[in-house]
Amino acid sequence: MSQPTIESILQEKRSFSPPSEFSEKAQIKSLQEYQQLYEQAKADPQKFWADLAAQELDWFQKWDTVLDWQPPFAKWFVGGKINISYNCLDRHLTTWRRNKAALIWEGEPGDSRTLTYAQLHREVCQMANVLKQLGVQKGDCVGIYMPMIPEAAIAMLACARIGAPHTVVFGGFSAEALKDRLVDASAKLVITADGGWRKDAIVPLKDQVDLALANQGVPSIENVLVVERTKQTTQMEPGRDHWWHELQAGVSADCPAEPMDSEDMLFILYTSGTTGKPKGVVHTTAGYNLYSHMTLKWAFDLQDTDVYWCTADVGWITGHSYIVYGPLSNGATSVMYEGAPRPSNPGCSWDVVEKYGVNIFYTAPTAIRAFIKMGEQYPNARDLSSLRLLGTVGEPINPEAWMWYHKVIGGERCPIVDTWWQTETGGFMITPLPGAIPTKPGSATLPFPGIIADVVDLEGNPVSNNQGGYLVVRHPWPGMMRTVYGDPDRFRRTYWEHIPPQDGQYLYFAGDGARKDEDGYFWVMGRVDDVINVAGHRLGTMEIESALVSHPAVAEAAVVGRPDEVKGEDVFAFVTLEGSYSPSEELEKELKQHVVKEIGAIARPGQIRFTDGMPKTRSGKIMRRLLRNLAAGQEVAGDTSTLEDRGVLDKLRGGA
Ligand code: PRX
Repeated sequence: MSQPTIESILQEKRSFSPPSEFSEKAQIKSLQEYQQLYEQAKADPQKFWADLAAQELDWFQKWDTVLDWQPPFAKWFVGGKINISYNCLDRHLTTWRRNKAALIWEGEPGDSRTLTYAQLHREVCQMANVLKQLGVQKGDCVGIYMPMIPEAAIAMLACARIGAPHTVVFGGFSAEALKDRLVDASAKLVITADGGWRKDAIVPLKDQVDLALANQGVPSIENVLVVERTKQTTQMEPGRDHWWHELQAGVSADCPAEPMDSEDMLFILYTSGTTGKPKGVVHTTAGYNLYSHMTLKWAFDLQDTDVYWCTADVGWITGHSYIVYGPLSNGATSVMYEGAPRPSNPGCSWDVVEKYGVNIFYTAPTAIRAFIKMGEQYPNARDLSSLRLLGTVGEPINPEAWMWYHKVIGGERCPIVDTWWQTETGGFMITPLPGAIPTKPGSATLPFPGIIADVVDLEGNPVSNNQGGYLVVRHPWPGMMRTVYGDPDRFRRTYWEHIPPQDGQYLYFAGDGARKDEDGYFWVMGRVDDVINVAGHRLGTMEIESALVSHPAVAEAAVVGRPDEVKGEDVFAFVTLEGSYSPSEELEKELKQHVVKEIGAIARPGQIRFTDGMPKTRSGKIMRRLLRNLAAGQEVAGDTSTLEDRGVLDKLRGGA
């Protein structure tokens, strides 16, 4: 089983103290030191964050008000002027870091590139000037649809530099999904590449952009900036499409960073929720800069000599906060890898660790489980002795995977930092500080200083130890999302009113189930809404259902997650067909492909089951709980008395 169960969590009693040689050199050296910081922050959060903001970031102008909290809308460092691109680049140029590697990039075919802070600054300034030439102004939104190449980070930093909010769309999303996001954000320009390498094949990104923009698909788009990566032919539309290398050749590398208001929008990042339409999570400048910076610095105990590698894609929040902004704001060396582990090269991740002497490695439980499947021989054949800390994110980690990571990759000497957070939170929320907090396999441990987290029931009352409940946060924090783009009401409803505010106290509802143990450690159990987590990717079941019913053969669709050994969960779809269609293997294939076209390969159903009817309540609601049981091949559990037609269930069972 990959998902931890309540029983397995209650039985998990192992605890690992921080190794003393690690703690001695760590920034936060003891549990006592953590507790002091935590209590200080809890007593006066505004002072805590203001002190760090003054100490850790460079400002063009200091703020007047630390926090303006009009629940559920927060403003941090009001009146301040700052630029995150400046904090990630310019301020390092006057120090010894000028010639330090900022990005080390490894391409899937084996090509590589290193950019020092000075070189990265130069390219970012050039791209910023190109964006200006193409008419992008402060406040205009820019879409970024890129492979994992340095220009993806350059594009983000160039947008931030001139005050153009970006919206990065994961390169695995389809043209349809790209179009929806660009339309919602009213993007004026898209930055893309001719293609990118993934699993030994070229992903033709520019062709997808062309499809998205065809027939005025995104009316706000005026220009497309194309980076040459794979050199395959692509149709360049005159007047609209421009090669980056051609414009770069004639542009100045002088582009001062625009002083931005603390609360100016930095980016929109779309994520799945419980409706068919993904929501645009809005993050703003100063609070996000501080939060991604501090969380990385303390939770990964970042040292100036570290080579740090986060295996995420820049299309997700992990890539935003912990490949680009957090590491560069700290002046760290961040490794970027283009591809993914693949059957033709199962040892590629460990080659990268060995080649660059990676000290900190951050990945997802699904990747760890895939590594376990590939076999120990691959990591064992490489020198992994440079590693000193291992991180994990994206879903609950099962204790077996945790132990394997600890032993086989970490050589039993590296603390494991299990970071619980979300697109919405901007950065780590519950995480060990590795020199201070003992770890337990499967627990994200304790809240980051300044974060007041709790587990409550639906009325907002704290539940007792080891009782399941809903994970909430009690006080605003600088990295929190500010709103849903264009839909503040959805922001309020989804996150702040799910549990009714009590005496004016608003609770942030994360959408996760959790429990706290007798040491106050948090054990995250997974989503409590209609969101599933497939290989660390967050997908809304409604989104996939909408994609399925947009096919003419489909009358009704219900999607649930089915436990999967490697992916954590897999997409399982129940489908009823329109009268003139009948089930067939070809149709199943066609429907899977249809979902890929509508959303992207990450949402492809692992299995589709055709059925004459869905188990529904008398009021017509699909009983997903029953479908989840059926998909998992389990006996249908719990009350079925509200089921309208028991015959449907028997038939579905028969097909199991
Ligand atoms: O269910 C939780 C799970 O991932 C969700 C957030 O997904 P997303 O916004 O895509 O961000 C992923 C990267 C931060 C959460 O609601 N999740 C994330 N990290 C963990 C986790 N579940 C358990 N343990 C974690 N460490």
